[in-house]
Amino acid sequence: MSPDFSKKLLDWNKKENNRAMPWKGETDPYKIWLSEIILQQTRVEQGWAYYEKFVKAFPTVHHLAKAPSQKVFKLWEGLGYYTRCKNLIETAKKISKDYNGKFPNSYEEIKSLKGIGPYTAAAIASFAFNLPYAVVDGNVERVLSRYFGINTPVDTTSGKKIYAELANAFLDKKQAGIYNQSIMDFGAVICKPQNPLCKVCPQQKDCQAYKHGLIEILPVKAKKLQKKERWFYYFIIEFDGGIYIRERRENDIWQSLYEFVLYEAKHAITEKDMLRSDVIKHVFGKQKIAINKISNVYKQQLSHQTIHVQFIHIAITKPILVEEYLLIRRKDLMKYPFPKSIAVYLNELKVS
Ligand code: ADE
Repeated sequence: MSPDFSKKLLDWNKKENNRAMPWKGETDPYKIWLSEIILQQTRVEQGWAYYEKFVKAFPTVHHLAKAPSQKVFKLWEGLGYYTRCKNLIETAKKISKDYNGKFPNSYEEIKSLKGIGPYTAAAIASFAFNLPYAVVDGNVERVLSRYFGINTPVDTTSGKKIYAELANAFLDKKQAGIYNQSIMDFGAVICKPQNPLCKVCPQQKDCQAYKHGLIEILPVKAKKLQKKERWFYYFIIEFDGGIYIRERRENDIWQSLYEFVLYEAKHAITEKDMLRSDVIKHVFGKQKIAINKISNVYKQQLSHQTIHVQFIHIAITKPILVEEYLLIRRKDLMKYPFPKSIAVYLNELKVS
């Protein structure tokens, strides 16, 4: 193990790291928390604009706590993993009420808040309060795995333990915030997942993966992800100048978001299959329906699922038979938060 690792990392940060991000150097724990929740399962390039939108709309935790949930979800639209947004609202209310708007300043208290795990707690504790807790995210695991030549899978209990211990052992405890940001930036800029910049890497001499030709192999994962495929057919039903939508309440993807009348199939189906389906009978009874338009198939990738989405525009003259749907005015449609594939389609409709 090289004692130089931390020093070289901090030198690189000082002299060569020019990665700019709006939350970098921020010390307001509310804004740091906001950025870290947005970035939990989101790339920096995508999260950037959301962070700026949120800070503008809700400059303090009280603003966020007071906002109607639907407004917060609407702003979150397109980011995915909506549990994050639900927890964000819950935690904002707690900090606003129980802590009088002042973010707690101990690691344990921060970690006790909904939606905050060890990684996010370490990030907030170190960036806002310079407390000596090492962050361990995908970037950090990759850097450590390569530098120390560790082939224990990162997604196992023993792997997690090894990486957490190493990260804390090498943390510069006097400048924990700067160190944590540096190692994440180093992983994103130099020690990238693909085509890392080993030629210009200041750690190259002591990097075990570089020495043994293991850059492409490390870090190792134990589980290969099997993605479930689902086919969603959405009926955009126009009746009496309105459109039917409903809120998704089941314990499934996209909870609290809105959608059109859904027919879910286990495989791709044709228009004929659709018209013969039980859902059609259930929704429309015996009334005749006219299909005005069928969209292309849209694909939305989630972490564990691939969703194929198609939209079928239908006009009817009598109301539908199912009760859970709201008939809303066309002009109000965009006020509701939708899953990304629906929002993308509605935006395309608007411009076409
Ligand atoms: N991902 C999560 N937090 C981050 C941060 N502060 N900087 C860069 N990437 C991040």
